[in-house]
Amino acid sequence: MDTARIEEVIGDFVTLKKAGSNFKGLSPFSNERTPSFMVSPAKQIFKDFSSGKGGSVITFLMEHEQFTYPEALRYLAKRYNIEVEETGQSEEEQEKRSERESMFLVNQFANDYFQEQLWKDDTGRAIGLSYFKERGFTDETIKDFQLGYSQDGYQIFCDHALEKGYQLEYLDKVGLVKVDGERKIDRFRGRVMFPILSHTGRVLGFGGRILKKDAKAAKYLNSPESDIYHKSKILYGIYQAKTAIARADECFLVEGYTDVISLHQAGIKNVVASSGTALTVDQIILIKRYTRNITLLYDGDPAGIKASLRGIDLILEQGMNVGTVLFPEGEDPDSFAKSVSQAELKDYLKEEKTNFLAFKAKLLLAEVGNDPLAKAKAAREMVQSIALIPDELERSAYIQETARLLDLEERLLFSELGQIRARSIEKENQRQQREKQGLKEQEVMKVVEAPAALEDNPLYVQERELCSLLLNHGETIFPFYEDSEEEESICEYILTELVNDNLSFEHPHFQAIYQHYLKVFNEEQRIAKAEEFLRGGDKELMHLVVDLIAEEPELHDWRRKRIYPPDKETYLKRFTEEAVLRLKEKKISQLIRESQEKLKLGESLSEDELSTIKQLTLLRVEINKRLNRIL
Ligand code: CTP
Ligand code: MN
Repeated sequence: MDTARIEEVIGDFVTLKKAGSNFKGLSPFSNERTPSFMVSPAKQIFKDFSSGKGGSVITFLMEHEQFTYPEALRYLAKRYNIEVEETGQSEEEQEKRSERESMFLVNQFANDYFQEQLWKDDTGRAIGLSYFKERGFTDETIKDFQLGYSQDGYQIFCDHALEKGYQLEYLDKVGLVKVDGERKIDRFRGRVMFPILSHTGRVLGFGGRILKKDAKAAKYLNSPESDIYHKSKILYGIYQAKTAIARADECFLVEGYTDVISLHQAGIKNVVASSGTALTVDQIILIKRYTRNITLLYDGDPAGIKASLRGIDLILEQGMNVGTVLFPEGEDPDSFAKSVSQAELKDYLKEEKTNFLAFKAKLLLAEVGNDPLAKAKAAREMVQSIALIPDELERSAYIQETARLLDLEERLLFSELGQIRARSIEKENQRQQREKQGLKEQEVMKVVEAPAALEDNPLYVQERELCSLLLNHGETIFPFYEDSEEEESICEYILTELVNDNLSFEHPHFQAIYQHYLKVFNEEQRIAKAEEFLRGGDKELMHLVVDLIAEEPELHDWRRKRIYPPDKETYLKRFTEEAVLRLKEKKISQLIRESQEKLKLGESLSEDELSTIKQLTLLRVEINKRLNRIL
C-alpha cells in the first residue's frame, strides 16, 4: 500500500488528466461525457461522483477488475515487483472464496485443459491442431489466443474436472457442463475452443467451433450468460489487443473470432470482435478506455452495411470518431487477410477507410439519382447521425462537409440540425423529469418504510462534522486551552472534550471512526491517519471515509455560511471549537427534551431529576453564550 501510487495504478485503466493537485478522468463505471472521476495522489483515494464509488487503490481494483481482496493485493504486488509469499490455504479458506472466484477457477482449469488436449493429445493434435493449421494459423498465433480442443465424448471433460476436485455446481454455473438430473454432459463436445478473455486475461467464457459441416448444429457454440459472462459487455480479443489499441490510438472492430485472429497474425494487432452480437454501448465504452477512434471492418454485403450503420450512430453518441472499411462482397476480414500480403492489407485498410459521413453519403447517394425528394431524405438521415455528436464544433464541421457531399446549402442543413437537436433535448428533459419523479417517489417510500434512517438522526450533522475534522485536520495544532502551556492537535482537542464529558457517537460508522482515533491515541500516542480506514474491512465505513475526505469542503465554502475573519488558521480553530460545542448542545437539548416528554406524560420527576433539568438548562445557556461569543 505504501509503494503503490493510486494515480499510476488507475492510470493503467483510465486516461487521467491533471487538475490542480488531483487527476480527473471519465468514469470507468458509467457512461459519462464530462469527467467526474477524481483521483487524489495526496490522499491516495479515488472518488467517482457519477456512480458514487470511491476508495483506495485496492477498492478500485476490486470494483473495476472484479478482483477479490487477495487478488487485488497480488495484482499490486506484481505491478510493483514485490514478491508475495503465500501460505497454503486451508479447506475452510478455500470454501470462503467467492462463488465468482470459483467460476473463474473452473474456467481457467478448462482453458488449460483444452490447450493441453490440442497440443499433447493424439486425437487433439490430429483433429484440433490440424484444423487450425489448415486455416493457416501459426503455432505462435494459436498460443497467443490460447486456442484449444474439447474431446468428442459426453463426459470426458466433466469427469476429468471432477477428478481434479472441481465442483459440479461451478462447472454447471459457467456452462461447461450441462447437468440434467443424473446426467452430466460436456457442452463443447468435439469442438475447437476459443477462450474469451477479459482485458486482464481472466477466462470469462468460451466459443467452440464445430469441425464437421453439420446443418443441424450451430457453427459456434458460446458459454451461456452467467455471473462472469455477459455477452454484451465482452469484446473478443481485447486482452491481446489493448496495448496495440492504445499505441495506435485506433481500434478495428470486426465480427468474428477468426477475423480477430487472422488480422492479428497479419500484423494488425489492434483488433477486437463483437462476436456475433450487434455492437452494444458497453462494448464501445470498453474500447473508449484505450482510444476514441473506432474503425468498423465489415463485410460489404447488405447485412454488413446495415450493421455498420447501426454501429456508427452508437459510436458517435459516445463522442467517439468512427470510420469504416468495407471488404469486397463475400470476403470477411479473415478471408481477405489471407488472400493478400501484409503490406497489401495495410494499404487496403488505409486507402479504403472512409469517415462515417462519406460512407453514409455514398450509400445514400447511390439510391438518390435525380430525385429531389430522395435527396432531402438522404440529407435528413445524414443530419440525424451528426446530431448525435456531443461536440458542437465537430457537428458544424460535419454539417459543412455534408453540404459539400450532397451539394446542398449549409443553411438548410443547420436548420435541420437545430430542429433535431431541439427535439432530442426536449426528450432528454422529459426523461430526466421522469427520473426525478421516480426518485421522489423512492424518497417518499424510504420515509414511510424507514423513519429512523441513520442520516435522519438529529446528531448526524454534528457527528459527521467532527469525523471530517479528525480525518482531514486531525494533526493541525492550535493553542486550544488558554491556560495550557502546550498547543493541542485538533485530534487531541476533540478526543479530550468528548472523553471528559463521557460522550460518544450514535451513528455506528462515526462511532467506529471516533473509537479508532481514541484507541490509537491512547495506545500508541499518535494520531491515526485517514488511510487506515481504507485497507479493507467494513466496506460501508470505507465509503463513508472516502466521502469525508473527498468532499472535504474548502474553507471558503464553510466561511460562506457566516462571516469570519479572513485568516484560515483561526477559522479552523473556531470551527473545531464550534463543532464540539454544537454536538454538546444537541446532546443536552436531547436530554432536556426527554425529561420534558416524561412531564408531559404526567409522570412526576424526582428532586434529582428536576435539578438535573435545571443544570442542563443552565449548561445550554452557557454553551449558547460561548457559541455566540465565538460567533
Ligand atoms: N457466431 C456465433 N454463433 C454462431 C455463428 C456465429 O456466436 N452460430 C459469432 C461468432 O463469434 C463468429 C461471429 O459470430 O465468430 C461471426 O460469424 P461468422 O461470420 O459466421 O463466422 P466466422 O467468424 O467467419 O467463422 P469461420 O471463419 O470459422 O466460419
Ligand atoms: Mn470466416
